[in-house]
Amino acid sequence: MKKKTVLDLYKMKQNGEKASWITSYDAPFASFAEAAGIDMILVGDSLGMVVEGFDSTIPVTMDMCIEHCQAVRRGAPNTFVVGDMPFGSYQTSDEEAARNAIRFLKEGGVDAIKLEGGKTVASRIRAIRNCGILVFGHIGLTPQSSGVLGGHKAQGRTVESARAVLEDALAVQEAGANFLLVEAVPPEVTAEIHKLLTIPVYSIGAGAPCDGQLTIFADTIGMFQAFTPKFIKKYAEIAPIVIDAFKQYSDDIKAGNFPGEEHVYHVIGDIAPFNELFAEFDEKYLK
Ligand code: KIV
Repeated sequence: MKKKTVLDLYKMKQNGEKASWITSYDAPFASFAEAAGIDMILVGDSLGMVVEGFDSTIPVTMDMCIEHCQAVRRGAPNTFVVGDMPFGSYQTSDEEAARNAIRFLKEGGVDAIKLEGGKTVASRIRAIRNCGILVFGHIGLTPQSSGVLGGHKAQGRTVESARAVLEDALAVQEAGANFLLVEAVPPEVTAEIHKLLTIPVYSIGAGAPCDGQLTIFADTIGMFQAFTPKFIKKYAEIAPIVIDAFKQYSDDIKAGNFPGEEHVYHVIGDIAPFNELFAEFDEKYLK
């Protein structure tokens, strides 16, 4: 399998071929994504909620992200991997943003980074691009700012809000971003962004009229139990399957049904010398 690059993604846009994009945070699921032929993986800061058990993405650190990126890269060596800059890694200055983006590439092995925000992060995008790093902008609903937005709320649903989203989209492209992710805005607004921009535009909960779709893998397979956003289509319901398997395992242990004959390693040769050995140890340690 040939490794996907930015050129493949731009060619897909040119040919009107939609890109599939999913989150992963570890090697096994990354390898499943690669085996399924998914075009891109996002090592999202959603890892904080999906795998670390936090109730928001705010506590996620650079070190956590780097570790998860490394695991994903090991699991999916040929997939285009995007590292998600966590809260606090780019807000304070252009220099800090560039330094942390460099860490994602050098230590995390990713192909590109994503950061949240529009006009307000234009100089950060420029600083990171100036380091020769591919950048995904992320506008609309930006979970790291959910406090300011008053919760995880869809954006661009009023004319005033749509104007702000469109201005953000233009600012992100103008700052030099190579790609844009639009989250939770009406499809009409997504279509307008797609028409205005020349860079590939992807959606998470922002409808179909763009160059591809992203989802959080745990929502898509019914693994994340806390809540399911409206825009998720579930392709599997794995939580009850896993819980049932764990329950059967526990019941089997308690009932003496596991392990069975087929799950053990037998001694090689006659048991008699082993019995002599056990008798020797019994004599020494049990008497
Ligand atoms: O962290 C993440 O998975 C994301 C998506 C919600 C877009 O940023």
